Amino acid sequence: MAKLTTLHEFIMDKQADFPYASGELSRLLSDIAIASKVVSNDVRRAGLMNDILGKQGNTNVQGEEQQKLDVIADKAFISVFKTGGEVCGIASEENDEFMPFESEFSQAGKYVVLFDPLDGSSNIDVNVSIGTIFSIYRRISPKGTPATKEDMLQEGDKQIAAGYVLYGSSTMLVYTTGKGVNGFTLDPYIGEFCLSHSNMKMPETGRTYAMNEGNISICDPGIKEYIETYCQQTQPGQPRPYSGRYIGSLVADFHRNLIKGGIYIYPSTTVDPEGRLRLLYECNPLAYIAEQAGGLATTGHERVMGIKPTELHERVPFFIGSKTMVEQAMNCLKK
Ligand code: AHG
Ligand code: MN
Ligand code: MN
Repeated sequence: MAKLTTLHEFIMDKQADFPYASGELSRLLSDIAIASKVVSNDVRRAGLMNDILGKQGNTNVQGEEQQKLDVIADKAFISVFKTGGEVCGIASEENDEFMPFESEFSQAGKYVVLFDPLDGSSNIDVNVSIGTIFSIYRRISPKGTPATKEDMLQEGDKQIAAGYVLYGSSTMLVYTTGKGVNGFTLDPYIGEFCLSHSNMKMPETGRTYAMNEGNISICDPGIKEYIETYCQQTQPGQPRPYSGRYIGSLVADFHRNLIKGGIYIYPSTTVDPEGRLRLLYECNPLAYIAEQAGGLATTGHERVMGIKPTELHERVPFFIGSKTMVEQAMNCLKK
């Protein structure tokens, strides 16, 4: 058997790409891998444990009912960030306000992390793929002081690293530091993430579209036109154009499209004019990965990573995936 490259070895090797790197980002990425393994273990046993499965009984700031696993994952990640020393504060989907860390040790850290601890919550109870999404920025505030809201509200273009963990048929961690995208599969026998998908590239086009089509009649007519023109069979006997695949876990839908080519759409609707997905910890990190892999991520009108955020839980319409497909969808919206 060929020798496997572990995530840890890979991170250490890549540190040489950044000549003045102090090793903090490497340690932070390793900490994320540790929290992911903890969450992965919980996910794998969820059906057996009453304290893992089901509703937490609270509603988060976005009016969504929290699941126990949302809270477990949130705590697991916060705990590694608090004890690692690289991070001075965080923001997450499950906390109304951002969280500046109080200790001197943490305030010496130069990074902030924004994350969706558990993506695809509605799929937890039915054993369907879920994930974690994270985005890392260098702080703007001076080291040695508490993290500020300004540290959190940076454009996606300022991301230092971003990634996701997919708790699917296997657990995978995929990340970028701006030099391509690499994917690691958790080998449960040795408890290590091992390089399985090096230098991932998103096919320029694909044959899969992912959208909650239950919303079609409350979307911009351009969306309907895109789906009808490019995605659906309109005449009997014609070859089937695209296949619809909507898991309802953004991470899982995105991961499939990253590998096979495809588009994911969560547009503005009359009910949710800004769409449903959150700019800072869902759209920006996946946009960074998509662009690094040769794909595109837009709001239907502009690049996601160019937006200057004004609020922590801000939402944006989201079109992400293979370059040609996203461009075609944007052209339909222009009309
Ligand atoms: P979360 O579970 O973190 O709140 O995110 C759910 C997101 C995303 O994963 C998914 O694609 C989308 O919301 C599903 O929304 P609909 O149920 O409206 O299709
Ligand atoms: Mn989510
Ligand atoms: Mn979530």
